[in-house]
Amino acid sequence: MMQIHIRQIEFGTPEYDEAVWLRYEVLRRPLGLEFTPEQLAEEYDQIHLAAYEPAGRLLAYLNLTPIDADIVKMRQVAVAPAQQGRGVGKALVAESERLAADLHFKKMTLHARQVAVPFYERLGYSIVGEPFEEVSILHFKMEKVQQD
Ligand SMILES: CC(C)(COP(=O)(O)OP(=O)(O)OC[C@H]1O[C@@H](n2cnc3c(N)ncnc32)[C@H](O)[C@@H]1OP(=O)(O)O)[C@@H](O)C(=O)NCCC(=O)NCCS
Repeated sequence: MMQIHIRQIEFGTPEYDEAVWLRYEVLRRPLGLEFTPEQLAEEYDQIHLAAYEPAGRLLAYLNLTPIDADIVKMRQVAVAPAQQGRGVGKALVAESERLAADLHFKKMTLHARQVAVPFYERLGYSIVGEPFEEVSILHFKMEKVQQD
């Protein structure tokens, strides 16, 4: 697999703005949706993880939003279109799980688009409950309990 560097980035920085652009291209624009300033403003205290090529090009983004002391929600998982299917998403999710464990969260939760369900199942996540609609498309709630 290609070399990738995964690191936390800070809200409101040029790195964050670049990641929002990637998220828009991968997750919002295909649905004809935008991020509102209010939606982004809520992210000031969330955890932002980004994957880069050694040369510095952004490959992927992932958000961790704490729900309570035990549960953290994985959101906005987006791999640049040309880089999908090369293990970047898997590496980013694995790194987010390590970080969540370091922060003493016990369970990861997420809302997966139907097309992404097999990806998360491959990484040990299970569907919980019935599918539902979000941002106009079908989603599945999925969870994974942290291994100690
Ligand atoms: C879904 C997404 C995050 C996956 O990331 P990726 O880098 O393309 O996936 P990876 O190459 O890391 O795949 C990891 C594993 O999942 C499998 N996988 C990935 N997508 C899959 C799919 N749609 N169906 C079945 N298996 C899949 C891969 O084969 C791989 O298996 P392996 O470990 O046996 O080799 C990425 O393709 C993406 O951003 N898609 C568009 C946006 C999106 O749907 N995001 C999720 C929102 S919930």
